[in-house]
Amino acid sequence: MDEIFSTTELGKPDRRLISLALKAKERAYAPYSKYRVGCAIVDNRGRVHTGCNIETDSFLAAVCAERVAILKMISRGEKECIKVVVATSFEEPVFPCGVCRQVIREFSRDPLIIAVNKDGTAYRKAKLSGLFPFSYTVERPR
Ligand code: THU
Repeated sequence: MDEIFSTTELGKPDRRLISLALKAKERAYAPYSKYRVGCAIVDNRGRVHTGCNIETDSFLAAVCAERVAILKMISRGEKECIKVVVATSFEEPVFPCGVCRQVIREFSRDPLIIAVNKDGTAYRKAKLSGLFPFSYTVERPR
């Protein structure tokens, strides 16, 4: 079972990513679920891309914060994400959903995923391969 730690243990680069994820969360558009999410990812050239969740009245059309960040990375011409930091409005850190795990997998090797709680004081971490074992792939088995 994974553990929850205090974010004061983290280094400055990770704490900066956490504050960017928390800031992105402020821009969440989640009037239906009221579950706000922000995400900051780092690409393999060190550039940071952020995202927030965006909902519509038709619930199926919601897009998660993690996918918004990945799609921004791709649209900026980068293809590989090396770290994902996600912040939600929940009391405990929550890891990305299954659909986002598949999308992160498409555009990374095996990044570290850090999830933080609503005020960014506590975190849990896992590699994507730990969260998403035996994941679906046709072309790149691993
Ligand atoms: N959501 C995310 O942004 N990331 C996740 O990993 C899980 C869910 C969003 C989608 C929807 O806007 C709201 O949270 C409730 O599911």
